[in-house]
Order: sequence, then structure tokens, then C-alpha cells
Amino acid sequence: MTFLEEVKRRRTFAIISHPDAGKTTLTEKLLLYGGAIHLAGSVKSRKTQKYAVSDWMEIEKQRGISVTSSVLQFDYDGCRVNILDTPGHQDFSEDTYRTLMAADSAVMLIDVAKGVEAQTKKLFAVCKERGIPIFTFVNKIDHFGRNPFDLMEEIENSLGIRAVPMNWPVGINGEYQGIYDRETHTVDLFAKDETHGQQKLASTKESVDDPAFRELLGDEVHQSLIDDIELLDVAGDEFDFDRVRAGELTPMFFGSAMTNFGVKPFLEKFLDLAPSPAPRQALEKTVDASSEDFSAFVFKIQANMNPNHHDRIVFMRICSGKFEKGMSVLHRQSGKTIRLAQPQQFLATERTIIDEAYPGDIIGVFDAGTMGVGDTLCAANHKVTFGDFPVFPPEFFARVSPKDTMKRKQFQKGMTQLAQEGAVQIFEQPHSLDSFIVGAVGMLQFEVLQYRLRNEYGVEPITDSLPYSVARWVKGNVDIKQLKGLDNAMAVKDNRGRTVILISNEWQMGWVIERNPDVTFLETPPLN
Ligand code: G4P
Repeated sequence: MTFLEEVKRRRTFAIISHPDAGKTTLTEKLLLYGGAIHLAGSVKSRKTQKYAVSDWMEIEKQRGISVTSSVLQFDYDGCRVNILDTPGHQDFSEDTYRTLMAADSAVMLIDVAKGVEAQTKKLFAVCKERGIPIFTFVNKIDHFGRNPFDLMEEIENSLGIRAVPMNWPVGINGEYQGIYDRETHTVDLFAKDETHGQQKLASTKESVDDPAFRELLGDEVHQSLIDDIELLDVAGDEFDFDRVRAGELTPMFFGSAMTNFGVKPFLEKFLDLAPSPAPRQALEKTVDASSEDFSAFVFKIQANMNPNHHDRIVFMRICSGKFEKGMSVLHRQSGKTIRLAQPQQFLATERTIIDEAYPGDIIGVFDAGTMGVGDTLCAANHKVTFGDFPVFPPEFFARVSPKDTMKRKQFQKGMTQLAQEGAVQIFEQPHSLDSFIVGAVGMLQFEVLQYRLRNEYGVEPITDSLPYSVARWVKGNVDIKQLKGLDNAMAVKDNRGRTVILISNEWQMGWVIERNPDVTFLETPPLN
């Protein structure tokens, strides 16, 4: 296969949703159909196989939420599929946002009974802002659900995007019996599934005009389906990929991840429509995926995935060029040449060493501590820097120190590594060597920090909350002592030595800004 063919067959996407909409279940079912796993292990009701393959960390098991993102790959119908799994809990939205940077499209998962929920809205906004085409999967139609027209309207009103249904649930009053495919005009009825969705479903497709179906569905349901189809054909939007790409239209699918219903048709249609790797904007130029010069950016770092080896894996998204095992690349931020040895790819539960990878692929490489989230790697003769990586201003702060001062070294190592992963942001207070000031975008991040310091670095931390909720970076070289109005604030340094002011609220910050008219205060770290 040529380089260009390899690029074109890549589909790299993330699933976005509110917790509990069924993302873990859908991810597993896609893997099941992709042949990457043979028996879906998600089904959480079956206690023996309580946790999904994408859940890696012990803490996820304890809390029953997904706190880390994982990357899963499989082949289907000639496509190479990369699914970026994202954590669902809202405290981990920063991690999710970063993962979205690596996606070329997104699947927005909605619970048919609940519609558009808070977390979905936030994640949708990021995708829209970044121009990522969005596909919608309305899940759980095996259960009582809302009217599909209502859902279309809600999507339009709350997200500002029109939906074009690719299929349609069959049934009335929220009780669905199957789905109608608008392209083939066939109906697929729910089959009795005794395996709780562990195996693929046999298809039962028939034409909607088949009198046997009318009999099976009953006159009322059948007529309501015919009426709906007519209404969609007459009043609905036509499918137009340019509008999908422009974020004005979302192709909408209905199904049930748990029972596998509608999963296969969704996967096939999605792979047909979803874009292959798109060009990426670097500070210097636009980088085309078809360019043969290598470039990639780090969107995630995970240390200690295997507690027996203290490994640190840096996940990067390849943007252009072919990756070959052992190749040397330039690390833009440090200027160092790095040899990418032992590249890993993730196939469900297994890691495999790979020899080559293409734009759109995600690879993980071991790194001792050079690379940080957001960094660029490129060919030495193709210097580019992917710059617009989101940094989120922390809103919660605490002073963290080791209980046992003898463990200061492990403590510092743990804190530094966890900060490099982007798990939390750390700041140093001048003259305070034994503690760090930690900033997080959500409270749960402190718990994860404590847990990981304890379990991965053997340090029992003491965490004292601080009464601040606002952080502002001071632009340029300003002598802190000259700043006025900082009585209730704390001045700290970030990991690059830049001065940051922590203060209790926006109102107080406004006051400081007013009293220091010559100083610029930034909400995010200045790019350098
Ligand atoms: P998440 O990753 O988005 O948080 O959701 P997850 O897949 O864990 O699913 C959340 C719950 O929704 C699970 O139930 C799961 O079984 C259920 N679910 C997922 N897809 C469907 C579907 O198509 N239909 C129905 N009816 N339910 C679905 P749970 O209560 O957490 O566990 P369990 O005890 O039901 O297994």
C-alpha cells in the first residue's frame, strides 16, 4: 500500500458524552465488531467481568469511572480505526480536551431518554471550536426513550447544529422495536439477545414495504413509521458532507450499544463518512497529512501504567510522514534529538511493538522525562511546532507536602512527573522546599494525585486546601514587590519560572488589575 493510501484509510476519532450514556459499552462493541476482542467484557452487571478493557488504572476500578484516556486500534472494511477513549467524569475534562486535539472526528453519544446533557455540551463546544466533524449516536433505544424529533430539536436548540438522521427508531410512545435505514429503506428489528450483547447480532433486515413487517409491527406502529419517514424526507435536511465538515450538520444514528443493536450499521456508515487525517496548523505553516516529512505532537503522558515497572509512556498523534521504529526525531521544545525506540500500539488489552505508523495513528513511546504534554516532534529538516494546545486555568489549589520529610526526593519526583503528565499543575512558593502548591481544574484530581503519590511513589501526602480559585500569569519581567493590592493573594512560580498570582476570586483579581495598570495578567501561561 502506498503512503497516501495508508493515510486515506485512517479514521481517528473520539467518543464524547456525559457519564453513563454508554461510552465504555459502545467502545467495546466497536472493538467487538472490529474483531479486536471476541467477547465484549464491558457489561458491568456481570460482576465477574466488571471492568472494561479500556479501564487501566486501579483507581478507576475503585470509583467506577474512567479517569484515564486510552487509545484503541483495529481494522475494519479496509479502514485502520483509532479510537481515542476519553474519561467521562467532569473533573477530568482537561484530559478529555487534550485528547480531542488528537481526533479527526468525534462521535457524540446521547442517551435516548436524557438527551443533551451538561458534559456533552462542553465537549461539543470544544469540537465545534476546533472544527472537528461530529457524528451523533443516540444510545439505549432498547429502553424507553424520548421522541426522536424532540431530540433533533434539542440538538439544534442547545448545540446550534442541525441533525440529519441516517436511520430512525421504529416504535411509538418511546417504545422502540427496531431501526429503519433511510438509505436502503429497510427495517432491522430487535432480535432477542440472550448473551447480553456479548456476541455480534445476526441481521434481520427487510424492506419497509414488506407486508410481513406491517403485520409484525402492527398497523399503528407501521403507519407512524411511514409518516415519520415522509416528514423527514420532506422537511429534514439533506445529507451534505461539506456542512458536516463545517460543523453545521451532524449525521444522527440510533441504536443500543448494550444489545449491539444498530452498532454495525453505525460503524460501517461512520467509517464511510468520517474524514481521514486532516491538515494541522503549526505555528510555522499548515502541515498536510500527506506530507512525507514526519511530525507529531504529544497529547498525553501516562506514567506507571504497569506498577511493576516504573514506565512513563508518552502518547503522540502522528500528523504527517511515516513513522519507523527506531527513527530519530527532533524534540522541538528541548532541541534534542530523540530516538523513538520501542514504539507501542494498543490493541484492546494488549500492547504491541510496532515497526511503522502513519498520520492519524497514535503511538506510545517510553520516555524518561524529556517530553511534556503539548510538545512537538518532527523530522530535523521539517521544523514545525504545534502550538495551540489548550491549557486550562486551574480553579482549585492546595499545598501538598510529604508526611515523612525523609521521603522528600520521591515526593519531588512524583510531583514533577505527575505534573508533566498534565494530571495537575504545580507551582513553587519561593523558600518553600518541602511543599508544592498544586492547581487543578477539578477536585477529583487531588484525590487521584494523593492516590498516585501513595501507590506509585510510596509517599503519603498531606494536602491542605488553599482559599484561591483564580490564577493569573504575570506577563514579562515584573518585580513582584512592586505589585499593589496582593494582600490576600499568593505569588508563586510555575514549572518554567513564570510568576503566577493566586487569588480568591475574580472580583479581587479585578481589583489587583485596576491597581496595576501597567502590568498584563494572563489567564493562561504565555506561549514561548
Ligand atoms: P459511560 O462509559 O458513558 O459512563 O457508560 P457505560 O458504558 O459504563 O454505561 C453506563 C450504563 O448504561 C451501564 O449500566 C450500561 O450497561 C448501560 N448501557 C450502555 N448502553 C446501553 C444500551 O444500549 N441500553 C441500555 N439499556 N443500557 C445501556 P450500569 O447500570 O452502570 O451497569 P449495569 O449494571 O447495567 O451493567
